[in-house]
Amino acid sequence: MPKTSIGSIYESEAYKQALQAADSVQDKPLPAASAGLLSGRDVRLSPVLDEAMVAKGQRLYASNCQACHSLGTDKTVGPGWQGITVRRQPEWILNMILHTDAMLTHDATARKLLAEYQVRMPTQTISQDEARQVLEFMRTLK
Ligand code: HEC
Repeated sequence: MPKTSIGSIYESEAYKQALQAADSVQDKPLPAASAGLLSGRDVRLSPVLDEAMVAKGQRLYASNCQACHSLGTDKTVGPGWQGITVRRQPEWILNMILHTDAMLTHDATARKLLAEYQVRMPTQTISQDEARQVLEFMRTLK
């Protein structure tokens, strides 16, 4: 999907209405198909952790995320990650990493975080595969 078209989809009335309908305080799935966001169907989690992915995700955390996120439950610049895979759906986490700006603008849960933390998480320059590796690392933080 060409990246340039995504912005205009997020601005469309249809998308905003769909998001309102899906008001995701309870982490209901976003209307992903029309928006380029990932849905639950796009994420496969194996019951057993993939240790190679965990190691890569941990390295990405250290280089890209550690400045703002602890691995505990404490709040630094952003929320600590302990228990994050229990309180959030995997596709929500990936969308937060890959489509940060759209989520902070349109997703009710993300907007609540922004209101609480008062810092807008910057758009991350990591690939979908890398985001998936970070998610695998997050699964170790229960
Ligand atoms: C400059 C600080 C900063 C950096 C760097 C950063 N984040 Fe964030 N992140 C935040 C803040 C602040 C929030 C809370 C939402 C907001 O205010 O934007 C957040 C929220 C999140 C959330 C939702 C947390 C929850 O409890 O639901 C996820 C997931 C996340 N970030 C992932 C990442 C990943 C992965 C990286 C590294 C690739 C990263 N962030 C790098 C500041 C940052």
